[in-house]
Amino acid sequence: MIATHSLAPECYFDEQLFLKEKTEVFEKNWIFVGFSEQLANNHDFITTQIGDKSVVVQNFGGSISALLNVCSHRKATLQTLSNGNRPLVCPYHCWSYKKDGQLSGVPLNRTDFGLDDAGKKALSLRQFALETCGRMLFVRVAKDGPTLSEFLGPYFDILEQISTSFIEPVQQDTFEWNTNWKIACETVLEVYHVTGVHPETFAKFAKAECEINFFDGHSTGNTPLHDEPKKWWNGARKHLKFEKHAYFKEYNHYFIYPNLAIGLTDGSLMSLQTYQPVTAISSKLHFQLRMMSSAENARVSDAVRAAIKANFTEFNKIILNEDKLVAESCQVNMSSNNIPGLLGKCEDRIRHFHSAWREDMQYQQES
Ligand code: FES
Ligand SMILES: [Fe+2]
Repeated sequence: MIATHSLAPECYFDEQLFLKEKTEVFEKNWIFVGFSEQLANNHDFITTQIGDKSVVVQNFGGSISALLNVCSHRKATLQTLSNGNRPLVCPYHCWSYKKDGQLSGVPLNRTDFGLDDAGKKALSLRQFALETCGRMLFVRVAKDGPTLSEFLGPYFDILEQISTSFIEPVQQDTFEWNTNWKIACETVLEVYHVTGVHPETFAKFAKAECEINFFDGHSTGNTPLHDEPKKWWNGARKHLKFEKHAYFKEYNHYFIYPNLAIGLTDGSLMSLQTYQPVTAISSKLHFQLRMMSSAENARVSDAVRAAIKANFTEFNKIILNEDKLVAESCQVNMSSNNIPGLLGKCEDRIRHFHSAWREDMQYQQES
C-alpha cells in the first residue's frame, strides 16, 4: 500500500489531547501574530490567544513587546480589543505597565498597597519571545526554543520576501468553523479535493496538480494556474498598473507549522490565513488579502484595491465556505468509529504536518 494512516480520530476531538496541544504545540512553536505596520505608532497594540495565554503585542515608544494580557492586580484583561491604540493600562483599577511588563503605576499605592520597587517588580507581566521576519511578527510563549530563523529554516527568506512585497491590505475577515483547528489546516494542504469540493471555483482557477517541498512541519505546494486566470491577471495589471513579483509565479502556497497558510496568486495577490483553536471542535479562521504595491505610485490606488476586492472577496468567501462545509462534515463523523483515515501520496503535506504534530505531542499511534 502506498497510503499511510492519518491521525487517529481522537486527535480531532479529545479534550485531554486538546489541552496538551495548547502547551506542546501552540506555546512551544513560533506563532504568527500580525504585521509590523499594525504596530507602527506608539501605543498601537494587537491581542491574540496562544495556547492558554492571552497575549498583547504593543508598541511602547517605538519598541515592541509581547506580554501577558492579564493584569497582576485581580486578573482583568488589559487590552480587550483585537487591535487598537491605547496605553497599557488596566481598564478595571487603572494599574499601568511598561514595555518589559513592569508595573509603572498603581493608584493609591502609598496609602493602600505600599508596594516598593521590588514589590512592583514581582508583579511584572510575563514577557514572551518576539521576533520578526520581514514585516511579520512571531511570538513564542515558551522561554526556551529555537530562534525564529532556525524554526523557519529555508522559509525565513521566503516569508521575508513575501511580507515586504505584499503590503497593501485589501480585505480581512474572521470566520468560525465547527472543526478542530487541524481539520481546518488540512483543507489547504492538498489539491486532491479540488475537483470534488470546488468544481466551479478553485478548479477553474488552478490545476489539480502540485509540486511539493518540505522543511520540518512547514511545506510548499506550487500549483499551475489555468490560462484564463493568468490572462485576467495580465490584463488587470496592465490596465490598473500594479505589480507582479518576479519570483512568485502560478499559485504558490506555503504552510508554516502549526497554523499559518499563505497563498500567492500569479505573484500579485496574497491570501493569508491562520487557524486558531477555540475548543477541541471549533476554531477561528482569520483571513486577509494583500497585494503588491504599484511601482509608479508608492501606494496602490483605491480604484485598484476596489477592483481586486470586488473580484476576489466573493471568490474567496465561496471557496472558504465550500471547504468549511466539507470539513465540518468530517468533524461530525470523526467520533463515528476509531479507525484513522488514509493519506495518499497526493496528501503528503498533511503527512508532514502530522509528523511535526506527533513529535511535539509525543503521540504514539499504531498504524
Ligand atoms: S484588575 Fe487590573 S487594576 Fe485591578
Ligand atoms: Fe479547498
